[in-house]
Amino acid sequence: MTTRRNLLTAAAGLAGLARAAKTDSRLSDLESRLVRRDFRGLTKEDLPTPSMILDLDLFEKNTRHMAEHSKATGLKIRPHVKVHKSVDLAKRQIGLGAIGLTTATIAESELMSGAGIKGVFWTRQPAGKNNITRAVALSKRDATFLLVVDDPIIADQLEQAAAAAGARLSVAVDVYAGLTRHGIEAGEPALQLAQKVHSSKHLRLAGLMGYSGGASHTRGFENRRKKSQGDLAGLLQSVELCKKSGLPVHFISGGSTGTYNIDPGSLTELQCGSYVFMDTGYRKIGGQTSDPVYEDFHASLTVMTTVVSKRHKNQCTIDAGNKALLRPTDEAKGMPWIQVENQGAEYGLLKWKDGDRDLRLGERVELYPTNLDMSTNVYDRYYVARGEQIVDVWPIMGRGGAAQR
Ligand SMILES: Cc1ncc(COP(=O)(O)O)c(C=O)c1O
Repeated sequence: MTTRRNLLTAAAGLAGLARAAKTDSRLSDLESRLVRRDFRGLTKEDLPTPSMILDLDLFEKNTRHMAEHSKATGLKIRPHVKVHKSVDLAKRQIGLGAIGLTTATIAESELMSGAGIKGVFWTRQPAGKNNITRAVALSKRDATFLLVVDDPIIADQLEQAAAAAGARLSVAVDVYAGLTRHGIEAGEPALQLAQKVHSSKHLRLAGLMGYSGGASHTRGFENRRKKSQGDLAGLLQSVELCKKSGLPVHFISGGSTGTYNIDPGSLTELQCGSYVFMDTGYRKIGGQTSDPVYEDFHASLTVMTTVVSKRHKNQCTIDAGNKALLRPTDEAKGMPWIQVENQGAEYGLLKWKDGDRDLRLGERVELYPTNLDMSTNVYDRYYVARGEQIVDVWPIMGRGGAAQR
């Protein structure tokens, strides 16, 4: 059963390509080659635009760097998939030592678990019938699935639903860590919730988590360190209270790409996500040894565009606009003199100054996106490249329709 599910999930992306190839004759040449995995001589130049390109060498460097950090510090890594929503990519993270994955939605959790990945940790509490039913069903199918609560009301509802279904759920307590969007108050309220989970017959207390989203993009390493430590203080106090009360705390989870080298000592595992790709927002936060550019991880993801019109001085039009989530803060790869502007749903504008190199009609321009989570959510696939050569295609399966959001 599990094997069949896995196979079906893995096949879904390619089946999508196959369907597209059958129904859309304009794309049949390229699409049928992709289905056959015939990448011979296929280069970035052959791709439709706008399209999303992953530089495999840089992605592997980033993933290896995080794996080495994990080995050196003992801090485990359970990377967040909201940034990439790709089973292929997640499996490579697991291959390089990740102990599981963190997810933002039940659909991402189902997708990753259905693909056979163990240790999926859903970091948003299930509220409402649909989420609770699916969380319980997933826990029954996959005993390694973990989820959070930040409210005793949801703990009660989960206990009831688990009892009715004959399931046992592994539950962590989500403690407030500076982001008002979620997390129970630290200290006594967190302790009481942990006790409630622990004493519920169909729930098992797995650990505690606290996500300091405000720290992740704080500019300057010292500022970021202070912000992260301040935000996590309540979480650590709650952990101590739980331990003193004899509660099992198997893990303390949190952290981000911006704080991965700040949090050892506070957390036992990291939920970093963006490090695999990086974006222009993250590159500006400054590193411990590099400021103002954050150089710990490399920008491996770009949006490939084409110059489609050039009738005015010092500017040209590209075929990526609002629908492709173009932003004025995007940056052109290898062309630091270029300024990006939105022009409409399907169009973007690139501008430069007198004396800068003119772009040519038909020229390809790769843009570093500003916010990875948003950009990857509007594309169907990563074209995976080594240099100019396309070597693979990974479907972004986590965005394939409402049920998979
Ligand atoms: C709960 C949670 N954990 C971890 C992350 C990953 O953070 P980053 O992509 O900054 O590494 C996010 C990102 O928004 C998040 O919401």
